Amino acid sequence: MKGIILAGGAGSRLYPLTQVASKQLQPVYDKPMVYYPLTVLIASGIRAFCLISTPQDIPRFQQLLGDGKRWGISIEYREQAKPEGIAQAFLIADSFIGSDPVTLILGDNIFFGGDAFPRAFADFKSGATIFAYHVTDPQRYGVVEFDAEGRAVSLEEKPAQPRSNYAVPGVYLYDNEVVGIARSLQPSPRGELEITDVNREYLRRGALRVQRLSRGTAWLDAGTSTSLHDASAYVQTIEKRQGMKLGCPEEAALYRGFLSLGQFEALVSAMPVCEYRDYLAELAAEVRRVGIKSA
Ligand code: G1P
Repeated sequence: MKGIILAGGAGSRLYPLTQVASKQLQPVYDKPMVYYPLTVLIASGIRAFCLISTPQDIPRFQQLLGDGKRWGISIEYREQAKPEGIAQAFLIADSFIGSDPVTLILGDNIFFGGDAFPRAFADFKSGATIFAYHVTDPQRYGVVEFDAEGRAVSLEEKPAQPRSNYAVPGVYLYDNEVVGIARSLQPSPRGELEITDVNREYLRRGALRVQRLSRGTAWLDAGTSTSLHDASAYVQTIEKRQGMKLGCPEEAALYRGFLSLGQFEALVSAMPVCEYRDYLAELAAEVRRVGIKSA
């Protein structure tokens, strides 16, 4: 399965922060925001990535992430010149996807906890798998309605009168049909190729799986100054309490076996002296002592 990280958009709700760097490059406590979705996909076993962003931000992402080799992954870059919708990603990344299934994650979605994603990736065979998460403000999101048997019956993008409290988070798994489906879409009234329309087509074909994320999973939004601050505070609280980092691609790559312990140690020694390096050095020492305990 290939992985797309969509990190476009004007980030207008974070102005003036986004004057010099895009939303997905802003710090969420101790790391750039994009580290979090990248880590979710690495931890789910994805190795081949395509990052899509604006022409002006791509060089900044390249500076941060490079070609991914140091983490045992590959990262290609593609431009989205205008914010013409999430589903446009499948057209932009067409040659990257080739004939493979593909997952798309939004570069500003932050998740923590539970093993729903690695399990969904391991179980994926065909069609589409999306997720549902109970929220208080569903009108801000794609909303999924379930029937009494728990089957998804409708999907709507930012409805004024939501039919449920279940929002669709920005992680989507698709078989290769998605490219053709994206190609057949018409722009919505807001001028975008909507990801909700892709999901609706899978629903119409009877090929959509909607998996509810339990309350043990945190899904955070970091799109406004207040929610960005809250997300940072949340990450800091968990990291301080557990002594374990969230959104750390090096760690996920080590646990997934994308990096050997020797490669991991070499990567850590090349880092400047900082808390991040201290954390990884300690982790390497622990893995040397007792092996890998958890993912
Ligand atoms: C987008 C999608 C929406 C989804 C949300 C998740 O919204 O259109 O369906 O629920 O991401 O973050 P937008 O980023 O346009 O607000």
